Amino acid sequence: MERLVIKGGSRLNGAVDINGAKNAAVAILPAAVMASEGKCIIDNIPDIEDVHCLERIIEDLGAEIKVNSNTIEIDSRSLVKTEACTEDVRKMRASYYLIGALLARFKQAKVELPGGCPIGVRPIDQHIKGFEALGAKVVIEHGAAVVKADRLIGANIFFDVVSVGATINVMLAAAMAEGLTTLENVAKEPHVVDVANFLNTMGADIKGAGTDVIKIRGVESLKGCNYSVIPDQIEAGTFMIAAAACGGEVTLNNVIPKHLESISAKLLEAGVEVEEGDDSITVKSSGNLKGVNVKTTPYPGFPTDVQQPMSAMLCVASGRSIITESIWESRYKHLDELKKMGASVKVEGRIAIIEGVEKLTGAVVKATDLRAGAAMVVAGLMADGETEIYNIEHIDRGYPHIENKFKALGAEIYRKVD
Ligand code: EPZ
Repeated sequence: MERLVIKGGSRLNGAVDINGAKNAAVAILPAAVMASEGKCIIDNIPDIEDVHCLERIIEDLGAEIKVNSNTIEIDSRSLVKTEACTEDVRKMRASYYLIGALLARFKQAKVELPGGCPIGVRPIDQHIKGFEALGAKVVIEHGAAVVKADRLIGANIFFDVVSVGATINVMLAAAMAEGLTTLENVAKEPHVVDVANFLNTMGADIKGAGTDVIKIRGVESLKGCNYSVIPDQIEAGTFMIAAAACGGEVTLNNVIPKHLESISAKLLEAGVEVEEGDDSITVKSSGNLKGVNVKTTPYPGFPTDVQQPMSAMLCVASGRSIITESIWESRYKHLDELKKMGASVKVEGRIAIIEGVEKLTGAVVKATDLRAGAAMVVAGLMADGETEIYNIEHIDRGYPHIENKFKALGAEIYRKVD
């Protein structure tokens, strides 16, 4: 069984390159199947299991894929299959972007319903509402979404909740609908903007991504293009927090500091120094932190995906920290693991109250989901003694070679297989 073993207590120093954004890449790869002419050559693709999973899914649909380091070439010209019903499709969340992408190009799709992290109920009603508004019929049959349309026609769609997935999925379908689609109350996350930019580079006509309203004028076809994925806001946030928690000075290269503002602001409040460069950010920390309150909200607010590593850090910040998780109702499973390391935490519904302790102590713990795994790594790095983290397949879904990156910063961490 693979696990990460960490001997905590080392300060972190040096520089780390941040990878391409997972949540952009896992939407851009499905979007590439919409190209009926030319090839998509996409750079800055992170080397993570969710990406490998999508490569297999897209190949199974009939696309040709070549991977060279962080660049992927996708040739979807001869792709004709519109059914994605494999184990890979079921185990990851972002496979649902194939519904929007295949519907756009072929006006039909059958995609098994996705898995993903167990962080709360994950409905797709807003995706379905959007597809139906564009004229598609959607039926859920034997665990798959079966979606068909004679024609897709632009519409005005006001989402009931701000959803990254629904915004992207409906944007994909609308990119090839007839006429104008207006999406309101949309998600503004950097990866939503990145997907819109990718589609525009393929020949789509999408305006307003990054604001509350996206306007999409449908085009008849899309073609391949060259594109580079944005840096990963969440991987960057995780390294910033680890540096703050362990103490030391760490520079993150290949980041967009603007995307990290809510995280930088909280670290400053906790007593950490954060310096922004053009495409880098430096975190300097004595390791003595003050407790802060954190409320997760859609972008530009504090990202839910960084809440778990942040709450690990706050376990050793002086005083009380209150976390309010407003996106996912059960994203606190990591706190039970942190208690095994000596954390003092109480959860009441969506609120977690953390009373800072002087130190955490190493323990055998598990990654209950992707970012919970990142939280356990942060905890292990700052704890006294040895921590073993099991179920690290969750971590590998989203963080490329996490142990090598931390080792290069001076941490004692390695992967053990037996
Ligand atoms: C994306 O999930 C990310 N995943 C998540 O990151 C992230 O936590 C989440 O956005 C919020 O930022 C990917 O991009 C692959 P949502 P998604 O639709 O799209 C409700 C990680 O750690 N909702 O924005 O599934 C939903 O229940 C992962 O990398 C509906 O009610 O999230 C939630 O409360 C975990 N109906 C809220 O909206 C719908 O049809 C936000 O969900 C869709 C969503």
